[in-house]
Amino acid sequence: MAKKVIVIVQPGQAKNMARFDFLKELDGFEVTYIDECEIKGDPSMLRNHQMERLGPDSFEYEPEFIKALSESNIVVTAMTPIPSAIYESGNVEAVCILRSGVENVDLAKASAAGVKIINAPGRLAVPVAEYTVGLIIAEIKNIARGYAEIEAGGWGNKFPNKAYSTSLKGKNIGIVGLGAVGSRVARVMTALDANVLVYDPYQKEGAVEAMGYRNLSLEDLCRESDVITVHFRLTPQTEGMINKTHFDLMKPTAFIINTARAGLIDEAALMDALQNKKIGGAGLDVFHEEPLPANSPLIGMENVTITPHLAGSCSNLWDLTIDIMEYTMRSYAASGEWTCVVNR
Ligand SMILES: NC(=O)c1ccc[n+]([C@@H]2O[C@H](COP(=O)([O-])OP(=O)(O)OC[C@H]3O[C@@H](n4cnc5c(N)ncnc54)[C@H](O)[C@@H]3O)[C@@H](O)[C@H]2O)c1
Repeated sequence: MAKKVIVIVQPGQAKNMARFDFLKELDGFEVTYIDECEIKGDPSMLRNHQMERLGPDSFEYEPEFIKALSESNIVVTAMTPIPSAIYESGNVEAVCILRSGVENVDLAKASAAGVKIINAPGRLAVPVAEYTVGLIIAEIKNIARGYAEIEAGGWGNKFPNKAYSTSLKGKNIGIVGLGAVGSRVARVMTALDANVLVYDPYQKEGAVEAMGYRNLSLEDLCRESDVITVHFRLTPQTEGMINKTHFDLMKPTAFIINTARAGLIDEAALMDALQNKKIGGAGLDVFHEEPLPANSPLIGMENVTITPHLAGSCSNLWDLTIDIMEYTMRSYAASGEWTCVVNR
């Protein structure tokens, strides 16, 4: 029997969600769409706050909506809170969520009912990696400072880093955290003929070298890098992981780039390194306090490029996300096995 896939269409996303028509080409699938706007009870209203505080089962839905979901085998959604009551039918085998986070399902109840929750991990990796490369180049090659110079009526090129504003070819790019974002940045750096140095204690033995990169301790990476870019996750263990000890090891011409989370770098150590010119400069998209306060010492500093947490923003995010889910669903159709299972 064909698997019944129901796609819940987010407001304004009908065109993007119609991409799930690819399921019609596959044997053994039928797809129907349900417009979230037509679900009475307006799940979009204050949805995120309510979902975080009270969970997906705090929403009152029309019985027809619950019935439609209960009769399907696979539910596809981005943000709609999914009522756990749909698992009782025994029909639903998977809920596919078009995000990394899965707050819109009750994971424990889904797991207890044997329902797989599938997510779309790394959907922001493409824009964040591209942005990181942009920020590295902007800081080293004075792109933002050049623009500011013209805006101020000038036409000069006497920037403070003039002596070491460099080409990336042959330079050492230290990547801390070789995950979804870090590995994309590494590939671009390789294409630019830079040498990639990696610190990531969770890589399998030999994996970093097999990719053509050098595997170093964090200390050696700090000593040898011309650019250091951080791409690990913020946890209680990693908070402030790049600290004064590491800044003291860096070259006086080294640039540090952060598009991940401000908390990964000790704030006082970073400010000390920049204010006292212990390093060459920084490209920062994330800050301990956002929006950046108007009196932040970073504003107006001549050795930083700062941007307002833009790395993940891109107009084709839906496309990138649906690409990931399409890949997952096609591989399920081919093998019968789900990948990206959050509650494996
Ligand atoms: N600015 C934005 O809009 C934006 C958007 C998405 C992600 N991010 C951030 O970017 C960062 C990278 O995201 P990702 O999707 O690549 O994450 P990921 O989980 O795919 O990769 C993280 C990598 O860090 C490694 N790691 C873990 N602990 C480490 C440690 N102590 N030292 C060094 N490496 C360590 C892991 O092994 C993994 O390879 C995260 O901090 C994330 O929050 C920012």
